[in-house]
Amino acid sequence: MTKTIESLHNSLHQTERPKAAARIATPERDESGSHAWNTLLTASTRELELRRRRVERSKGAPAETIASWRIGSFLGAGATAVVYEATHTKTGQRVALKILEGEHRERFEREIAAHQKLGVHDRVVGLLDYGTERLGGWRDVHWLAYELVSGGTLRDLLRSHGRVEPELAHAIVRNIAEGLEALHDHGLIHRDLKPENILLDEGGARLTDLGLIGSEQRIDMQSLTVAGAFVGTVAYASPEQIEGQKARRAADLWALGVIAFELLSGKSPFARGNPFATAVAVSKRQIALGVAPRSWRSLLERLLSTAPSDRGTAASAVLALDMLRAEVEKRGAGGTESELVIDGDLVLFVGGMMFLAMVGVLTVLAFAS
Ligand SMILES: Nc1ncnc2c1ncn2[C@@H]1O[C@H](COP(=O)(O)OP(=O)(O)O)[C@@H](O)[C@H]1O
Ligand SMILES: [Mg+2]
Repeated sequence: MTKTIESLHNSLHQTERPKAAARIATPERDESGSHAWNTLLTASTRELELRRRRVERSKGAPAETIASWRIGSFLGAGATAVVYEATHTKTGQRVALKILEGEHRERFEREIAAHQKLGVHDRVVGLLDYGTERLGGWRDVHWLAYELVSGGTLRDLLRSHGRVEPELAHAIVRNIAEGLEALHDHGLIHRDLKPENILLDEGGARLTDLGLIGSEQRIDMQSLTVAGAFVGTVAYASPEQIEGQKARRAADLWALGVIAFELLSGKSPFARGNPFATAVAVSKRQIALGVAPRSWRSLLERLLSTAPSDRGTAASAVLALDMLRAEVEKRGAGGTESELVIDGDLVLFVGGMMFLAMVGVLTVLAFAS
């Protein structure tokens, strides 16, 4: 961790923590998880670097300096913004500078309002500063300076690794669930939860991109035809959103379920070749939950319930994840969970065969006597 980031972290840690923070068990603090994070992040950072170079060739920053931020390398882009590493010209503070064109003023203001309402939280990337600037050639640009998160997005991790070990999936999903719990406790609904909006570093996973919080935006089938960018989003949209309803808290829980499934299986459960097919798969809930480890299935069933009211709350998801972990640990140190699942199946299979054999023997004996 560099000095500037360290000081950012220190200043964040001086702020009062919301109650959820006390229960956070990040892989960093967890002996077994820590190693896994580091190995994964190294590889995913490499992937990120390659992507950065590819995109950097096709995009240019709008200016060399915006407000007092000197623009550095390209970090990523979403539907509305481009994000660059940036350094403060006077203090040398390094941040991730998210830049939006003037027309996105509403989104910019919503994003600030959401951060102001939430305050500082361990599981949400902190907003440090923001402003609007007039640039030559561009109209106004809005900028948001965020804590710089060095390990790439969850999308980068999925691209470079596909499926991850259940223990790591557990740590990531729990981090996300805690972020959601904090948002929901403050009356905020993320509405755009997907791997591109989850950032990773050695401290675990954090949510970002709160720009749709408080918006009335609904997914409409017409926009699917014109905006290829929506393909990614539709794969995380809930059935009620696909039907055109407004996203409520339960929509965030559905997205959490989709992400958990994707981490465990290495495949997005609903993503198909085009947004329409994806939308159909979501609304018909075409998903093979059997692919996930057995201990996860009831939680996935719950999060991916068609009826929003059956999905529970973010707090209940955190609790279920803790119970799931305790259960797996209780089953012993004799192997990974997937092995244990196979063991369980084997026990059932062998037990069943023995029972059938006994019935057979008894039947033969009964006839013989
Ligand atoms: N704080 C950050 N640190 C590092 N990279 C970031 C940060 N914030 C965003 N990014 C990168 O920029 C991308 C787009 O940012 P995001 O806030 O999701 O913009 P949009 O609102 O356009 O979707 C992210 O997917 C990620 O790759
Ligand atoms: Mg985004």
